[in-house]
Amino acid sequence: MDGNGRWAAARGLPRAEGHRRGVEALRKTVRAAGELGIRYLTIFSFSAENWARPASEISDLMGLLRRFIRHDLAELHRNNVRVRVIGAREGLEKDIESLLEEAQQLTRANTGLNLVVAFNYGARQEIAHAARRLVEKALAGALKPEDVTPERFSENLDAPDVPDPDLIIRTSGEQRLSNFLLWQAAYSELVFLPVYWPDFDRAALENAIVEYQGRERRYGGLIAKTGS
Ligand code: FPP
Repeated sequence: MDGNGRWAAARGLPRAEGHRRGVEALRKTVRAAGELGIRYLTIFSFSAENWARPASEISDLMGLLRRFIRHDLAELHRNNVRVRVIGAREGLEKDIESLLEEAQQLTRANTGLNLVVAFNYGARQEIAHAARRLVEKALAGALKPEDVTPERFSENLDAPDVPDPDLIIRTSGEQRLSNFLLWQAAYSELVFLPVYWPDFDRAALENAIVEYQGRERRYGGLIAKTGS
């Protein structure tokens, strides 16, 4: 969800207004994803590196998350959305931790769209954490070195049952992954859009999906598999 700050600056507005409009774009995107039958939508909402921002901006972002959960959780639940959270809990304020937990608990039996919220998330941190879990299992005698396969590694990531993304969309024109789902993105199709996140909408999502459908996914092999 990149480009909130630039969207605001281009209009002479404070960055906080860009983030507020970013949450509106998020609401629309979640609704559109559900209607389009998308099973998993992962949003990068606060990176482990975002702590380097000024305290006032961090406070704005935490406030938006609080408001998003307090105002939107009931509706997400009504719409059968299951909320999942990936990222580190350490360093988060206690009430934020509780809200994230509440969102997961309330919606855990829902069978519609899985909304995976990457919060205080960094892919390298997630990968290091998975390695730590494997070492702990090995030290406890439950794992041998030859048991460590890509599959076993994946099982120790933050949300092991969430499939690897077919498509990753980054807005704002930047063309990099910035520590997002590095393990899971091995064969993801990447679409970079020139729009700032607050301007992202259902049409932009549909266009990205159409672009994805035109890609040929070979997974390193020769037989073409068509995206669907
Ligand atoms: C990127 O724009 C956006 C973020 C770092 C924060 C996104 C978070 C929210 C919209 C709110 C909190 C989360 C939820 C789930 C409600 P940027 O600030 O990097 O923009 P710039 O690159 O143009 O400065």
